[in-house]
Amino acid sequence: TTPLVIDTDTAQDDCVALLVGLLDPGADLRAITMVAGNVGFEQQVRNAFTTLSVAGRLGEVPVYLGSRRPLVRPWVSAENVHGDGSGGLAMDCSELEPEPEHAVDALVRLAAESPGELSIVAIGPLTNIAMAVAKDPDFVRNVGALYVMGGSNNGRGNITAAAEFNFYVDPEAAKAVFAAGFDVTVVPWDPLTLRHAVFDQERLDAIAALGTPLGDFFGRVCSATLEFDRRVGIDGTTHPDSLTAAVLLHPELVRRSGRYHVDVETAGELTRGYAAMSWGVHGLEANATVVEEVDADGFFDHLVEVLSRRTVP
Ligand code: BDR
Ligand code: CA
Repeated sequence: TTPLVIDTDTAQDDCVALLVGLLDPGADLRAITMVAGNVGFEQQVRNAFTTLSVAGRLGEVPVYLGSRRPLVRPWVSAENVHGDGSGGLAMDCSELEPEPEHAVDALVRLAAESPGELSIVAIGPLTNIAMAVAKDPDFVRNVGALYVMGGSNNGRGNITAAAEFNFYVDPEAAKAVFAAGFDVTVVPWDPLTLRHAVFDQERLDAIAALGTPLGDFFGRVCSATLEFDRRVGIDGTTHPDSLTAAVLLHPELVRRSGRYHVDVETAGELTRGYAAMSWGVHGLEANATVVEEVDADGFFDHLVEVLSRRTVP
C-alpha cells in the first residue's frame, strides 16, 4: 500500500479525492490536513468529517487543522463555484475532535517518521506545504513524492484568464514549493482536467444508477459545481482533485507526461498565480513532472469502483 497524506480545502471534488484515499485498497491514508481555500474553514472541516463518516472511516484517520489564510494575502473563496461544498449534507461536527497538533507540524512529523516513504497529495492552495518547507529543512528530503493539483499548462485559468484557483489563492506558497526541490508531479486544470476529467450527463447518470450511499453522496457534493460548470460552458462535473489522488495510486492511468520547469507568477497585475511551465527549449532545468494525458475511461472506472463500495452512511 501507498502511505499518503491528503492536504485539502475540502469541497466538492476534494471530498471525492478523500473517498479515493479512504477506500482505495492500495491507499494507506495516514492523515487529512486542512488548508484555507474553497469555502469557509469550518465548513471545510465539516465537509472532511462528513466524508469520513460517509466512507465509514470516522475516527480512523486523523484530521489536522492548518493554515487559515494564504502566506501573505487575504483569503479568496470559491463559494460561487461550490456552494458549501457538500451539497447541504455536511453534518454537525461539534462532537468531533480534530487533532490538537497543527497540520504543518503533523506534515513535518509524519514525513520525518518514514523518510522517503510518505506521499503528499496537495489539492488546495499550497500554504501548508510551503510552511512545512520553511519550518523543517529536512521536510523536502523526507517527503517521498508530492502530487499537486494546480496551474494550467498552456491553457486557461479558471479564476482568471491566467490562473487556476489553487495557485491564484496562494501564489507565494506555490512559487516556494516549486523552488524547494521536491519530487513533484502536477495535475493541471487545463488542458488535462478539462479534456480528461469532466463527467458528462451519461457518466453522472451511471454513478447515480449505482444506488450506493457513496454514489448518492457524490451526486450531492457535485451538484453546485455542476450548475456552475454548465453556466460557464463545461459539459459536466470537473474532477482534478480525485484525479490527482488516483494517479498517485494508479500510475498506469498516466498516458503521457513531460518534464517541465514550473514557476508561479507572484508579481503580475493580470497574471497573479499564472503557472509558467517551461519545457527544454527555454533552457531551464526541469523541476516537475506535469501530467499531460490520462486514461479517462480508466479514471472513471476507478471512481465507479470506489463509489460502489457499500459503507454505512
Ligand atoms: C481546484 O480549485 C478548487 O476549486 C478545486 O477544489 C480544485 O482543487 C481547481 O482549480
Ligand atoms: Ca481542492
